Amino acid sequence: METSILAMDGGRPLRAQPYPAWPYWDDREEAVLLDVLRSGEWWSVGGSHVTRFEDEFAAFHGARHGVAVTNGSAALEVCLMAAGVDWGDEVITTPYTFIATASACLLVGAMPRFVDVLPDTWNLDPALVEAAITPRTKAIIAVHLGGEPADMDALAEIARRHGIVLIEDACQAHGAEWCGRPVGALGDMGCFSFQASKNITSGEGGIILTNDERWYERCWSVHNVGRQREGQWYGHVALASNYRLSEWAGAVLRVQLTRLQGQAERRARNGAYLADTLAEVSGLSAIPGDARVTRNAYHLFKLWYDPQRFGGRDKAEFAKAMQAEGIPISVGYPRPLAQEPVIRRRVAFIADRLGLEPPTEAQCPVAESVCERGLWLPQNVLLGSHADVEDVVRAALKVQRAWA
Ligand SMILES: Cc1ncc(COP(=O)(O)O)c(C=O)c1O
Repeated sequence: METSILAMDGGRPLRAQPYPAWPYWDDREEAVLLDVLRSGEWWSVGGSHVTRFEDEFAAFHGARHGVAVTNGSAALEVCLMAAGVDWGDEVITTPYTFIATASACLLVGAMPRFVDVLPDTWNLDPALVEAAITPRTKAIIAVHLGGEPADMDALAEIARRHGIVLIEDACQAHGAEWCGRPVGALGDMGCFSFQASKNITSGEGGIILTNDERWYERCWSVHNVGRQREGQWYGHVALASNYRLSEWAGAVLRVQLTRLQGQAERRARNGAYLADTLAEVSGLSAIPGDARVTRNAYHLFKLWYDPQRFGGRDKAEFAKAMQAEGIPISVGYPRPLAQEPVIRRRVAFIADRLGLEPPTEAQCPVAESVCERGLWLPQNVLLGSHADVEDVVRAALKVQRAWA
């Protein structure tokens, strides 16, 4: 029997079992890793796992080309370099994302220009994107936060009209779909991460997808030290670095990809069920989302928290109480990236070096309220049973009753 005393106050936790472990693997990963070991081909130049994974992952997302890279951050940097984004350029993006989205811009010398997100999706507000375009704007990075696609129709139209490159940061959105079309090649180039928490993983890893020959050739060159595909080994036509993925990761990812469809369907089913079931809790709700999203990848299940319904306790306290009950809820990013000191310092440095005005300080009230009242559940919570999902609601009700 569950007790009414909160686990954080010494009571019995609501959940005795952890949620399904992540990463998930079985003897197939073990077998391919041994194959790679014994083949002696440990890099993509000699082996074929990475190139086959590039084709398979691209095909899964309805894209023509894939370029596998070392991680999602590298994927973003390679795309920006391939697009010719350079010192002093501006890149419009969201302030509510993992720091790599913005640091990729700064690492190529460009300045992120943050515009606010929509309260229903926590993704870029296209109207604000359009208003933020200046003569220095070279690219837009749309983040599909938590696996929920951004409004790619509006963003693609704005990018096309202004002659700006549109990059998808789909690092959290494997298999997500916007209006029935998989993400990744809805803009010019799309980036995915295979870091340990992601919906398929090789510990570290990343890939760029594109439908466009020109972007494909440029990304391929940038990810391979500026070489050309048919060129000499020591022929370098662009200044770039080595972002190649290893065969170990490529082999593991090929196996992981075979499970993505089934896992994505399960997350989508359980995500919809959780959104409905949360109606029982006043003060904790799934964000409304956008009806044009035909598949949310649910890397994160995004929630609004209302402290007034929980005895005035803030979300950090609520998260602590839920975690003690066995629900791995997270408070998410602490502040909008426009306020992140390392970002501000670097923007000021670049502007100063080039004698430019830094982009005007972004007002992002929605992102601020997400930082104050938004919470996430990780994807593996949605890989269990309906009873596992219901535990989120039961735990929230337990906390609510205790704080009433
Ligand atoms: C939205 C977003 N962008 C970029 C990245 C960077 O990916 P990685 O950790 O593989 O470098 C991540 C993942 O951590 C992410 O969640």
